[in-house]
Amino acid sequence: MNNIAILASGSGSNAEAIMEHFKGSPVGRVVLLLSNNPQAYALDRAARFGVPALVFSRQEFADPGGPVMRALRQAQVDTVVLAGFLWLVPPHVVREWAGRIINIHPALLPKYGGKGMYGARVHEAVIAAGETESGITIHTIDEEYDKGVTLFQASVPVSPSDTPDTLAARIHELEHANFPQVIEEFLRAHPA
Ligand code: GRF
Repeated sequence: MNNIAILASGSGSNAEAIMEHFKGSPVGRVVLLLSNNPQAYALDRAARFGVPALVFSRQEFADPGGPVMRALRQAQVDTVVLAGFLWLVPPHVVREWAGRIINIHPALLPKYGGKGMYGARVHEAVIAAGETESGITIHTIDEEYDKGVTLFQASVPVSPSDTPDTLAARIHELEHANFPQVIEEFLRAHPA
């Protein structure tokens, strides 16, 4: 049984899909949700699933002996999922869970990735470039934004009439349909 921690900065619709998917799962369980944003709706979603949550500051996140590391170790977390998490993960976290930190990006990396490319900005850039398709990339991370090993990609068409909102909605559907399953397959292939 793998112990999963989710890091989320915002609404948490992916976090919800993951908590729902692993409810009663023999493969993994979500033991902790952490956020850098005290207003994150992801915290409300965790409460509804009875998943303990922790809010942290930049300083606490950067501290190798701080509350984030203590909470992750205490919960014996073996896999970390970034579900809409906007900060760079510090090297000491990347090292401790090397190869077991999974991120989702709402575009077909390596295009439209990197620092500052998140949320609507990604969809705006895709539409402005006249792309005919976009999609999602699920990957493990290393110490740079949106790098690491790609675990999964799926695409959706982009039409000239798309707005960032209509494209975001289509991408979110793709995320919710695939992210939990990709995590489960990762855990089956790499049991901790
Ligand atoms: C998703 O589009 C994800 O790809 C990106 O941030 C967004 C998070 O949405 N990393 P939510 O908070 O899970 O609803």
